[in-house]
Amino acid sequence: MARVFVTRQLPGAALDRLRAEHETDVWPDRVPPTYDQLLTHTAGAEGLISLLTDAIDVRLIAGAPRLRAISNYAVGTDNIDLAAAAGRGIPVGNTPDVLTDATADLAFALLLAAARKLPEAARAVRDGDWLTWEPAAHLGQSVHGATLGIVGLGRIGRAVAQRARGFEMEVLATATGTAPGLPLDALLERSDFVSLHCPLTVATHHLIDASALRRMRPTAILVNTARGPIVDQAALQRALEDGTIAGAALDVTDPEPMAPDHPLLAAPNLLVTPHIGSATTVARERMAELAVENLLAGLAGRPMPHQANAPGAPAAAEAARHTNATR
Ligand code: GLV
Ligand code: GLV
Repeated sequence: MARVFVTRQLPGAALDRLRAEHETDVWPDRVPPTYDQLLTHTAGAEGLISLLTDAIDVRLIAGAPRLRAISNYAVGTDNIDLAAAAGRGIPVGNTPDVLTDATADLAFALLLAAARKLPEAARAVRDGDWLTWEPAAHLGQSVHGATLGIVGLGRIGRAVAQRARGFEMEVLATATGTAPGLPLDALLERSDFVSLHCPLTVATHHLIDASALRRMRPTAILVNTARGPIVDQAALQRALEDGTIAGAALDVTDPEPMAPDHPLLAAPNLLVTPHIGSATTVARERMAELAVENLLAGLAGRPMPHQANAPGAPAAAEAARHTNATR
């Protein structure tokens, strides 16, 4: 029996499997533990299930001398210092695949909602502004047959491309690994919709900055279901205000949560959702199952079903590839 800390309640019954084998401490609150609370609860832990809201940095890892396995309840691992964990021989698990379709669906939902101005149109009904059927009100953009630029053609990017083919869109993508693709600038110049699906790394931080936004078409819409800091939000706010681009739909922001009075939210043609890419019952329960399987394997000294910091692991390889992302 090992001591395990889980930083939040998880949906489904997966944590029961963990409790059956290990002494399991589950953070009970709706809001995550603070960094200091995280330090206290991991100090004596051998296993940790963390969320993307938890900063698992070098100091926290050093402060947990008995820690032998970390399992992140997310596909992204940018909240964890993977190298620091690897330096201690601690495997870090993540939850790819089980959330791919849910996240791709949400990316497409945002794309469609922004293209067809759903938030504005729905608001008009409630505001009593639905006076009649109007020929020139709420005019949006065609999705069918438009050009979609995918930045980061990994698992989720490919699933978005598959959906786009049903809309007979032309799909462009940046180069990934050995797969050829367009330089980012060319993709931005040619796309009606740009959807971000790269991991957050040093190389992709503010990848979409003022100069990238200027490359986009004035009719183009930016969709981000990846990580907030990939976009320079101050630059995005200016681009929306001055019409450099036509709109943006963001499921991820910097910071998260975004306060209701954050200046970005005053920008026009902006739709923001609270990081719900994987938020279907099925995906979140499968993520919990996989996170528990990863942790049980790590604690037993078996290979994790999905380890993000193994040499050659997809997440590590993807991060390395994006280090070479070209513009
Ligand atoms: C969600 O953003 C995840 O990385 O799973
Ligand atoms: C729309 O409802 C139409 O009939 O054109």
